[in-house]
Formats: sequence, structure tokens, C-alpha cells
Amino acid sequence: MRETQRNSFKFVAKMSCCFLFGKRAQHVVEGDDDVHSVKVFSYNELRKATQDFSGANKIGEGGFGSVFRGMLKDGTLVAVKVLSATSRQGVREFLTELTAISDIKHENLVTLVGCCAEGSHRILVYNYLEKNSLSQTLLGSSYSNIQFNWRARVKIAVGVARGLAFLHEEIRPPIIHRDIKASNILLDKDLTPKISDFGLARLLPPNATHVSTRVAGTLGYLAPEYAIRGQVTKKSDIYSFGVLLLEIVSGRCNTNTRLPHEDQFLLEKTWALYEQGHLDEIVDVDIGDDLDVEEACLFLKVGLLCTQDAMARRPHMTTVVRMLTGSKNISMEKITRPALITDFAELKVSSKPQGASETRSYPSRSFTTTEVTEPFSSSETTTQTSM
Ligand SMILES: Nc1ncnc2c1ncn2[C@@H]1O[C@H](COP(=O)(O)OP(=O)(O)OP(=O)(O)O)[C@@H](O)[C@H]1O
Ligand SMILES: [Mg+2]
Repeated sequence: MRETQRNSFKFVAKMSCCFLFGKRAQHVVEGDDDVHSVKVFSYNELRKATQDFSGANKIGEGGFGSVFRGMLKDGTLVAVKVLSATSRQGVREFLTELTAISDIKHENLVTLVGCCAEGSHRILVYNYLEKNSLSQTLLGSSYSNIQFNWRARVKIAVGVARGLAFLHEEIRPPIIHRDIKASNILLDKDLTPKISDFGLARLLPPNATHVSTRVAGTLGYLAPEYAIRGQVTKKSDIYSFGVLLLEIVSGRCNTNTRLPHEDQFLLEKTWALYEQGHLDEIVDVDIGDDLDVEEACLFLKVGLLCTQDAMARRPHMTTVVRMLTGSKNISMEKITRPALITDFAELKVSSKPQGASETRSYPSRSFTTTEVTEPFSSSETTTQTSM
């Protein structure tokens, strides 16, 4: 058994004692050879930090529940994610999973500060990322004063690739994120990207239908094998990363129904331009003077490599990092046709996202037959996955 898992059980045992005796625990768990430092907040503390979870402090709402800005007693700004009723699970399971997540630290991953599991409340406390998510800044319709010049975009793309490569290749067991998309990429004050929401699927009770209820807003990022058959592998994450990479370079959402029909799907459009030899036409015109068109086209090609229909052809994330940083030449790589959203137009989204912050709608082609199911087994499917 994994070292951290073994220690997490010790942690849970100690935590259970703390709850039984109604005490607040901090920096619990000192194993024999490892130390975990999950801070446990009381509900009251988080209520105060968020001014009673006031509407004014609400910064977003996603498939797992609402997110509030909060300030802890020591002045630290935090994002407080209140998991909705469907996300509730027993204290023991919740804390076990949380301990595993809190162990995972990387410059390009959001840091879990602590949690609360009092009564029926299940709350996660994260570092507050002041520049918000890529979906609200780079891709959002409302005004953002952030200038995403080319250097900033390179930093974001490479940072996200490194964070995902870390989850896929450096953690045992690996973590498949399952929900790589612009709203799950948060930015700190220096525009360092941080991947959020990794490990969350493990916090859901086994009967929660988190995938099918949240697919609608995420559809453009989903590899077809995931969208249609529910097959979750590292390669489905890599597909989502590829779509995100196209968004970062083009400054466009993966789907935009206000555009003429042939331009609505970013991946489809990028592939068409690639075949015509005009890839540069999809590069964001707002990038500014530091644009390196050659490098931008290279990034687009990496995005196309990641979204190829044949899963086996999509490069691993460590290879993607090398491609983006120039230590692996891709000029000899053959890029084959991507898996396009229009190829699976019969896909049914069984229910709409519940109050999700995602507002994109999908075009007149309706998605009307298949329900997304839990993952099939696959040689690449790991035991630890995340939404
Ligand atoms: N650590 C954080 N710092 C600052 N803002 C955050 C943080 N975490 C989340 N947010 C904000 O809250 C919003 C909602 O986040 P949440 O993860 O609940 O939903 P989502 O990412 O839009 O969708 P999904 O549930 O599919 O991940 C985000 O888009 C972001 O704007
Ligand atoms: Mg999120």
C-alpha cells in the first residue's frame, strides 16, 4: 500500500477522535515517517471568513457547488468551495481522499489549504488565486485588464502542461484530471497557471452522477471516447489539454455559436486551416508586439497532435512539455485528423449542468442519444481519477 495512503488512515483515525470530542484539529497527523498537514476548519470559522457565505463573496458556482472568497483570521485570502448535497460523503471517506490530495504539491497546481467536515458540511479551502480563471479572463466576454501577450501565453501553456505531466507521470498512482478546461485553470498575480479541481471525483459518493450532469458545459473539451463511452484515460486528459492549447493561442472559446457555421468549432477550424497551410490565421490578433508566429503555429500543431482521433497517436504530457519548450522537434511528426465534435453529434447530454458557471450553449445540432457513463476499464485508466 502506498505510504501516504497508510498514513492517511492514521490521519482519519485521529481525525475521527477530534470530531468525536468536538475539538478543532489543526496540522493533524504525524506518521512515523511522513507528515501530513491538512488544516481542519470549523464551520463557524469559514462562516466568519466568508461573512456568512454572503452573495457578495460568491465568486462562482460549478458542478460541485459554490465558491466563496474568504479571509481567514490571520488575513490570508482563500477560496472556499462548499460542496453541494450530491457531493456529500461520510467524514471518514472524505478525509481519506482529502489527505491524498493535500499531499500533492506543484507550482502549477492549486494548493489545498484545508477542509471542513462538520455535520453534513463538506467544504474545501484553497489558496485564493487573484487573477481568476482563464475562462473569465482570456476567453471571457466581460472586460479583463490582463494583457495576455505571447510570453504570458507561453508561460500559461507550458505551466499547465507541466502541472498535468506531474499528475500523470510523477504521482503514484497517477491522477487523471478528467476536467481540464479554461475554468479550471486559475492564475496567480504573476500569471502563473494553477490547475484546480484535481482529485475531486474521489470526494463524490459512488452513486453521484457528476459526469453526466456536467458534460454539457464541457463538451468541447471531451475526447470522443470519453464523451461517448465514458472511457477515461490519460489520453482523454491530453485531448482536453490540446483543445485548451488552441484556446490559449487563438484567444477563442472552443465553441462559439455566434460565428458562421463553419467557424463555430475551434478544433474543426484549426484543422481546416492546417490542411490549407494557413495555421497562422487562427492566432489571436490581440497578442501584441511580442508575438512569435512560428512558435504560435508550433503550439497549434502540438494542440492538433493532442487531439488526434487515434488515442495512441496523442503524445504523453511529458513529451508535450518537451515539444512546447523546444527540446523535442516536431517537424517530422505526422499530424492526423482530430476527433471532432461534429463526429459525435448524436451525443446526448442527459441533464443540464446544475447552476454551472459555464454559459456556453451548443449549436442547433442536438446531442440526443448516449448517456455518459462511468469509465470503462482501460490499460491507461488509473485507480485515482479526478473531476
Ligand atoms: N482557488 C480559487 N481562487 C480564485 N477563484 C476561484 C478558485 N477556485 C474557484 N474559483 C472561481 O470559482 C469559479 C467556480 O469554480 P468551480 O470549480 O466551482 O466551477 P467551474 O470550474 O466553473 O466548473 P467545474 O465545477 O466544472 O470545475 C471558477 O470559475 C473561478 O472563477
Ligand atoms: Mg473548477
